[in-house]
Amino acid sequence: MTWEPILSGLEGRRARLLEIGSYEGLSACFMLWRLPDASVTCVDTFAGSLDHHATRLDVRDLEARFDANIAPVDSNRVRKCVGD
Ligand SMILES: C[S@@+](CC[C@H](N)C(=O)[O-])C[C@H]1O[C@@H](n2cnc3c(N)ncnc32)[C@H](O)[C@@H]1O
Repeated sequence: MTWEPILSGLEGRRARLLEIGSYEGLSACFMLWRLPDASVTCVDTFAGSLDHHATRLDVRDLEARFDANIAPVDSNRVRKCVGD
C-alpha cells in the first residue's frame, strides 16, 4: 500500500501524526517533507527490533542517526519520545 491516498487527505492541514517505531527517522522525514503543515510524534526505544538483532544490525547509534536525519528537515515539528 502506498501512503499517498492517506497523506493527500492531510495536505494543508495542521495534522498531528503518530509514528510508532521510527528507526532512523527517514519515514518521519518523508512525512515532514510531504506535509509541511503537519507535526510528527515519533516513539521508539531506539534499541532496534528482533529482526535487527537477528541480523546483527548495529543499532548502537540509532537515536543519533534519527536526530541527524531529522535535523536538516525540521526538528521543530518533531516530538521524540524515547521508550515503549
Ligand atoms: C522496522 S523499524 C521502523 C522503520 C521506520 N518506520 C522507517 O520506515 O524507516 C522498527 C522500529 O521499531 C522500534 N521498536 C521496536 N519495538 C518497539 C517498542 N515496543 N516501542 C517502541 N519502538 C519499538 C525499533 O527500535 C525500530 O527502530
